[in-house]
Amino acid sequence: MASSPLKKFTLFGSPIKHSLSPWLHQQLAQACGLSIDYTLSETPKGHLAAALAQFRAAGGIGANVTLPLKEEAYALCTYCDPHALAAKAVNTLWWNKAQQLCGSNTDGIGWRQDLNRHGFSLIQKNWLILGAGGAVAGILPQLLQTQPKQIWLLNRTLTRAQALAQRFPHPKMAVIAANTLATQTPPAWDWIINATSASLQQALPEPTFPSAWLQDARVYDMVYDLSQLTPFLIWAQQYGAQSVQDGLGMLIEQAAAAFELWHQKKAPTQTIHQQFLAKRP
Ligand code: ATR
Repeated sequence: MASSPLKKFTLFGSPIKHSLSPWLHQQLAQACGLSIDYTLSETPKGHLAAALAQFRAAGGIGANVTLPLKEEAYALCTYCDPHALAAKAVNTLWWNKAQQLCGSNTDGIGWRQDLNRHGFSLIQKNWLILGAGGAVAGILPQLLQTQPKQIWLLNRTLTRAQALAQRFPHPKMAVIAANTLATQTPPAWDWIINATSASLQQALPEPTFPSAWLQDARVYDMVYDLSQLTPFLIWAQQYGAQSVQDGLGMLIEQAAAAFELWHQKKAPTQTIHQQFLAKRP
């Protein structure tokens, strides 16, 4: 008897040639006893609709979306779940029975899950968030559920941070202007999150805040580099951060959340985290 063809999944984005997503999804599938086909579909900005139509015509079941296409994916969806609606960005796609394109955003869940897995309490903490792009929009809905004591948003372009704060109004959230940094008196930060893409350029995010703010904070960089710590995490270590953590764990957890949406199966991620832990410096 001929075996049925493998269910097809793919990642859309650019550049994606070094993406870990195919490997991650194969690991998750294997852990659940499933066999899948997960490919990379290099797709430039403005070409997602055509690429999706082609993928669907070839029997595609679901897709992940990464930079720079998350907003484009959001605009193409007929149905968005509450996570996608809050972020106005989509990283997970599938089609429903009526053949409508559906989208979710698992970045925020992946981020929170990654912090949780270390057993850190996230309730009533002081947060310094760097950046004001899609990565911040992805995590803010989750963050605002943790009864934050204070959240400061600091971004190179002040107006983008202000626009984001308007989209997610919260009494404990403040936007900090770069030219007031030297005179600010921040609380002791529990968490400092670098959600800028500066680390992708091997740079520290601008504007730089006083290094004393790093003392005893837990510092998280959403970017990861398999072979070394990001410049931001190295700086944080030098100035007394209590712990440093990069975005690899978030990547694993957002993949697991997407996997669950497609397969209605919760795949264990612990072994995957351990595999990387063993390999990393
Ligand atoms: P993403 O969806 O990954 O958040 P994005 O929307 O392009 O991508 O946003 C990138 C974020 O990184 C922005 O906050 C950007 O700052 P600006 O709003 O000023 O552009 C920030 N960023 C990128 N490179 C940076 C750098 N070298 N220093 C500081 N911030 C940087």
